[in-house]
Amino acid sequence: MPLTYQEAVEEIKSRLDIVEVVSRYVVLKKSGANYMGCCPFHQEKTPSFSVNRQKGICYCFACHEGGDAITFLEKIQNKSFKEVIEDEAKNFGIELPATIGGGNFSKKKTAALEAMKKASEFFTENLFNSPDAEFAREYLKKRSISDEVIKKYGLGYAPKGYDELQKHLNTDISYLETAGLVSKREREKGYIDRFRNRLIIPVKDENGHIVAFGARALTEGQNPKYLNSPDTILYNKSRILYGFDTAKEAIKELDSVLICEGYFDAISLQTGGVKNAVASCGTALTQDHIRLIAKYCESRKIYLAFDTDNAGQMATERSAELIKTAFGGLGDIKQFDSCYVAGGGNYSCEIRVVSPPEGKDPDEFIREKGGNAYIEHMLNAPLLLDYRLDKLFSQYSSDMSPLAKNDLVAKIIPLIEEIKNNIVQNEYVKRVATRLQLDEGLLLREIKAFRAKNDEFEEPVFEQKSQIVTKSSNFIEKMQKNLLSVLCTNISDDNRSELIRIIKTQKIEEKNLKLLAETIDKIVFKSNNTKEFIQELFNEFQENNEVKDIITDLIYLSKSYENLTDKEIQTAMFETKNKIELFRRREEIKKLRLKSKEDNGVNGEVQYQITVNEKLKSENWRNNQ
Ligand code: UTP
Ligand code: MN
Repeated sequence: MPLTYQEAVEEIKSRLDIVEVVSRYVVLKKSGANYMGCCPFHQEKTPSFSVNRQKGICYCFACHEGGDAITFLEKIQNKSFKEVIEDEAKNFGIELPATIGGGNFSKKKTAALEAMKKASEFFTENLFNSPDAEFAREYLKKRSISDEVIKKYGLGYAPKGYDELQKHLNTDISYLETAGLVSKREREKGYIDRFRNRLIIPVKDENGHIVAFGARALTEGQNPKYLNSPDTILYNKSRILYGFDTAKEAIKELDSVLICEGYFDAISLQTGGVKNAVASCGTALTQDHIRLIAKYCESRKIYLAFDTDNAGQMATERSAELIKTAFGGLGDIKQFDSCYVAGGGNYSCEIRVVSPPEGKDPDEFIREKGGNAYIEHMLNAPLLLDYRLDKLFSQYSSDMSPLAKNDLVAKIIPLIEEIKNNIVQNEYVKRVATRLQLDEGLLLREIKAFRAKNDEFEEPVFEQKSQIVTKSSNFIEKMQKNLLSVLCTNISDDNRSELIRIIKTQKIEEKNLKLLAETIDKIVFKSNNTKEFIQELFNEFQENNEVKDIITDLIYLSKSYENLTDKEIQTAMFETKNKIELFRRREEIKKLRLKSKEDNGVNGEVQYQITVNEKLKSENWRNNQ
């Protein structure tokens, strides 16, 4: 008999080995009972990422990312739980029941998606046939956009009237509001179409569903230039890259991606032959964007093709740093082109900057010189290091002031210092010395000094590790987490019962922690050992990443109880419980004092004393202080 979905999930979970899974992304070394490696979720030089095979989880002591094998795969590949399960089912040859896939959209989401699709059809129909859209058609002709391209990218025209879309779609207005297609009118009753008298560009998710629109102004004085959909249940601009759906096959095939700024840059690039082009649409690149790219682009070869103006150059720098950080844990960034360097070929990522000297954005460039000329620039695009050096070199002039020269050299030194290969570094030192008319020995000494100073400031990792800090800043929450964490280690039945009793009397404010505590209460006596208990917990919160993060925190907090005797654990439990109570009382007294300050004069003071004295007597809490 075929497995049910839940059974298949169980089967996959039991077959996944966390050490094997993490090793797909991180080089691990055995260290005691755990494995350690550099965290793939943030950049670091000394390993803080710990993997525990027995408990089936991983955790970064520095950035707190982690989870069980499935959560890890979700995060590192930017996939949903279901997607990871589908992948792993394929890996293991486990057949999943046919009902899943597509069925997980909520009703609201489905309705909103449907509204987006219908709206897009309406806009396109208008663009081709409405007499009012004549000037929009003219506009596209001037931009050399053919009917074929209009159809491929689903461009459209939103009419002038304030409710034409609403009237045309004639459906429950709340769906249109959810989809961001209309907004409530301020003074009058009713709704107003968001997009009016604009050129419409549908934005699709990686699977080709329309999730948002970009709408370009067509007339003088129409502001902003592009009006975009707001973030909705369908659309989160920090996760979507424009053009991804049409580029993803090429990204996979070419194993590279080009990131540009604008809608029309992406359209012109793809149409002009750069099929792996996507646009960030004016927003800063995010980790989510990077993860989306990494999912399709195994070698993580990324071309940055932002505008060449100041804003574009800043976006290049920021994006490059973000990419380096995102993949830092996986190894070195490719720094130079050479087949002779030892260890070549195995990089965490490769960043190149396409920046034609003509200084046009890709759309303008291609319209003027054609796609092939652009591809030529792409093929010769410098690596990040060379791009940065060239930019700095261009600021040099032989008659600049000594101070200005010093400032310029100070910007170059960190770039050279970063070069991993000593021989190549030496070559770059020579190049810089020649280009800037500097003494080579002096430059070398400055680089060494810079390195020494940098090392000094690097935080000692040992300290980070010896002290387990959780994400919560609130004291009570931290202590409550501590209590819950004791359940994630091997403890005696007596201690477990006592602990559950203590937890039940806790007033837990944080909603996820509360949910977790309630669930623990339900399942704790059902599981036979700690491992089963932890697995049960992850199962319960399969699709709730926030709670899964807390569980991971708990498991690592529990480490501090691992080698204690039953008696010691008991003491620790009660100490924590008492600390929470003491803290609450202090807070209460603080409140009383504040309140008495508000009441004027002697009366307030006396009242305060009486209340506190009564409290002290009745609860006898002095012992705890
Ligand atoms: P640009 O101002 O460079 O526009 O903004 P563009 O792509 O060159 O536009 P055309 O070629 O004149 O039509 C780059 C991107 O930033 C976003 C858009 O995604 C745009 O494509 N943007 C820009 C907005 O979202 N809103 C704006 O008001 C301006
Ligand atoms: Mn532009």
